[in-house]
Amino acid sequence: MALETFADRLRAVMAERGLKQADLIHAASARGEKLGKSQVSQYVSGKVTPRSDVRALLAAILDVDAAWLATGNGARAAARPETANAPVRPTATTRSTTMREFKKSSKLDNVLYDVRGPVADEAARMEDEGLRILKLNIGNPAPFGFRTPDEVVHDMRQQLPDCEGYSDSRGLFSARKAIMQYAQLKHLPNVSMDGIYTGNGVSELIQLCMNALLDTGDEILIPSPDYPLWTACATLAGGTPVHYLCDEQAEWNPDLADIESKVTSNTKAIVIINPNNPTGAVYPREVLEQIVEIARRHQLMIFSDEIYDRLCMDGHEHVSIASLAPDLPCVTFSGLSKSHMIAGYRIGWMILSGNKRSMRDFIYGINMLSNMRLCSNVPAQSIVQTALGGYQSVERYVEPGGRIYEQRNYVYEALNAIDGITAVKPKAAFYIFPKIDVKKFNITDDEQFALDLLHEKRILITRGGGFNWPEPDHFRIVYLPRMEVLHEAMDDLADFFAHYRQG
Ligand SMILES: Cc1ncc(COP(=O)(O)O)c(C=O)c1O
Repeated sequence: MALETFADRLRAVMAERGLKQADLIHAASARGEKLGKSQVSQYVSGKVTPRSDVRALLAAILDVDAAWLATGNGARAAARPETANAPVRPTATTRSTTMREFKKSSKLDNVLYDVRGPVADEAARMEDEGLRILKLNIGNPAPFGFRTPDEVVHDMRQQLPDCEGYSDSRGLFSARKAIMQYAQLKHLPNVSMDGIYTGNGVSELIQLCMNALLDTGDEILIPSPDYPLWTACATLAGGTPVHYLCDEQAEWNPDLADIESKVTSNTKAIVIINPNNPTGAVYPREVLEQIVEIARRHQLMIFSDEIYDRLCMDGHEHVSIASLAPDLPCVTFSGLSKSHMIAGYRIGWMILSGNKRSMRDFIYGINMLSNMRLCSNVPAQSIVQTALGGYQSVERYVEPGGRIYEQRNYVYEALNAIDGITAVKPKAAFYIFPKIDVKKFNITDDEQFALDLLHEKRILITRGGGFNWPEPDHFRIVYLPRMEVLHEAMDDLADFFAHYRQG
């Protein structure tokens, strides 16, 4: 049998050794490595060729030479440290083969973080081979030419010599004061300086809150689609994420009846992401009021992720849900990653508001965890005051003529012009979550669709499933690249959908 492709060789050796796909997954896990089911099935079917580190892992499991498995050239037998006839001496190398294996903790077994999953791995492998991939998958403004305001960089440089030590675990006074004033402008009730915490991005604080709140069996309502870190952190903390639907027919607003139907006696909290990633929705005041009403009725804590609150377009006003819930325990999250294009500096915050009495013990937990990590990045804290005060350069991007505004309009129109694709117009942030007519394209597997698009057009998007969306009928595009790049991408997408049929 000719063993021309990687998949041919893989299948041949597996057959010879009597190994099934599940055996490869188990063998990898015994070595402390992770191979996903769909990953392996794609390698075996030849739809995807693994990256070099995964190829080396498979070669080691199958006991064949890694170069042979990769290319078909050279000797097939695995290279041995000694020649076949030489006596095996207990050298440092042979001793190390008996070292026990270190496995990841089982706490991670049900944690999914697909934004950097197998499709992104395949894109990285293609890049390793020298191919240019257009990445429409990550909301990281800097690589697309969105620069940090000069004043912010200048002020951080000035203050760097004063940022050598740990700060108060909640953060510098100046940073928290500026956040406090921001909270006042957003009408958050009952906020005090000791209820404001800075973090290494909102990401760190999401994890901190989930760990502080959730016990095994506790349920937390999280939107679908979501920003998947919420689901991952709730799971890792031992809680049970319960997804409520956001309704595409209603501008992607949360489906209130679905929320209500999913509350149980174990439900402790509800998460909202407003403005939303991945849909770009901004929730109207009336919808927020009704969510507050549900939370009030069932005594739920409210977590509101508002990292995109300064990126609203078309005059949509952003309302903080906490401003409508003075009697409920609320935590509001925001930061500078997106509004000030400094995702890499790592600075975010959370603000406790409303009914503090009911969250006294939770606050105790938050303080413990906050103290344990000592403090967040101090140089980044030092520019919060500069960033939040005065002229907000981000406004230029989101008004007519601004890059985010114009790019949003273009992508929205270009996607809707494709037969079989429909998209709701985003009101904020820099994401769009189009719907695919799955019947027309015979799509049953959104990961396969993402891979096919990557292979054919070298465009990397994130499948809807990566945002805990239950059907294979959506994907997310980040519209941060410059207009000329988006033109090319949309032309390629139109071309792809003109003929694509899955299966
Ligand atoms: C909704 C949402 N929340 C939080 C984050 C993480 O932000 P940070 O950079 O502050 O950790 C992101 C990043 O994409 C996001 O989209």
